[in-house]
Amino acid sequence: MVSNREPYIHERNKKGIRCKTPIGGLVAAIDPVMQRTRGVWIAWGSGNADAEVADEKGRIQVPEDDPRYTLRRIWLDPKEINEYYYGFSNRIIWPVCHLFQEKARLLPEYWETYKKVNQRFLRATLEEALPDDHIWIQDVHFTLLPAALREELPDNDIALFWHIPFPPWETFSCIPWRKEILEGMLGADLLGFHTESYVANFLGAVKKEFPDAQVSSSAIRYKGQITRVRAFPIGIDYNRYRELSSRDSLRRRATQLRSKMNVQQIILGVDRLDYTKGILNRLLAFEKFLEAHPKHLGKVSFVQVASPTRSAISEYREMKQRIEETVGRVNGKFQRPQWTPVIYINRHLPGDDVLMLYRIADVAMVTPIIDGMNLVAKEYVAVNENGVLILSEFAGASEEMDSAIIVNPYDLDAMARALEEALSMSPEERTRRMGPLRELVKERDIFWWLDTFLEEWGVELMMDQEAGQIVAGARLSE
Ligand code: F6P
Repeated sequence: MVSNREPYIHERNKKGIRCKTPIGGLVAAIDPVMQRTRGVWIAWGSGNADAEVADEKGRIQVPEDDPRYTLRRIWLDPKEINEYYYGFSNRIIWPVCHLFQEKARLLPEYWETYKKVNQRFLRATLEEALPDDHIWIQDVHFTLLPAALREELPDNDIALFWHIPFPPWETFSCIPWRKEILEGMLGADLLGFHTESYVANFLGAVKKEFPDAQVSSSAIRYKGQITRVRAFPIGIDYNRYRELSSRDSLRRRATQLRSKMNVQQIILGVDRLDYTKGILNRLLAFEKFLEAHPKHLGKVSFVQVASPTRSAISEYREMKQRIEETVGRVNGKFQRPQWTPVIYINRHLPGDDVLMLYRIADVAMVTPIIDGMNLVAKEYVAVNENGVLILSEFAGASEEMDSAIIVNPYDLDAMARALEEALSMSPEERTRRMGPLRELVKERDIFWWLDTFLEEWGVELMMDQEAGQIVAGARLSE
């Protein structure tokens, strides 16, 4: 496995070294997979104590309390972090793929460093890969790696999964290095995206850029190499979410929290503080909702968790400022001595606290401006069987989760109406909508995603039946 973000980060503080898990969908999805398949995960060692706990090659066995696989950390210097991670990945690919072209900073130095870091990950992967290994690359940080690996390891199986939207060619083509990026990706045997529309966009981009490529609805032949392209909507570890959220201690804490909050209903948003997540529009919609329905004043609170992310980038800092001004204004307008309309948490909350919030929230608002999939929608549904999900039509999840209340995140009035509808929904209607959502999240969990992906890739996981664990991967048919 190769990804930018590592699954376990070691940080030193005054009390000593602490291991934490980062936020974000990628790690949440891939760690349970690695725990089942074992193997080596190569990623950027971003924690300030990462080097202290790893060996001289940057290797450490994880999870620490029950080691199941090897994490190999790659050390990046400040220039690399700035130009490859913040720069190329998050100021070019990220905004362009999320249709925020105007935010893209198309600097050649970002591209140069991005290429160098891809080479560094190439070398580490070559050191780790065995002849029969399947090499699975995650996300936008390593678009050049599939083709580079293909040259060195013509017989290994290589796949890439893209965790964010893939935009139409008209948008993607603003990137001056678009041909190199697409060629790099086409080194993979299999390319996965969350939805059919991202697949269609990718195929469209290849057709435009390489008129001599043969492109069908699910495969591309280019320069003698065949790349299959398919949608694999990612899921969550449903059973684990159920287990963790049903523990007695957590239930008790959730009940206490709910009664302390002293409101009749709770609306919840949980996001990284990213301009793509639609937090600002959601707050404005909540304001409209309170204005239009004063009967809810004093009775409904909106809890917004906005975890800090990528704050070295000015667009993120600006969005934080706008969100905080809006929280202040809305609270200033409506607040009462015993009631806070918006409870805003700008910290990374421990997993149990998020589970507790999922449990007590009557309504979850997952209303990104655009999002590859959005796993918060799936986590909420797994934890809270009585809740109502309001979901943006521009989240990848809405292609599957159509019995949620689907909204346009630009339409503040429609979102305010959706809030009223959700809060006044009868228990029968809640159940009618929630039933199919839960079924879907349960059926298409992270292991379904893994199995579907591997089956398409031609890999069969061999189970050690007694231990109930996967011991090796093998090709399905040669
Ligand atoms: O590319 C998508 C993604 O990696 C998600 O998996 C995750 O939600 C987010 O970006 C995390 O971002 P970062 O690793 O930059 O903190």
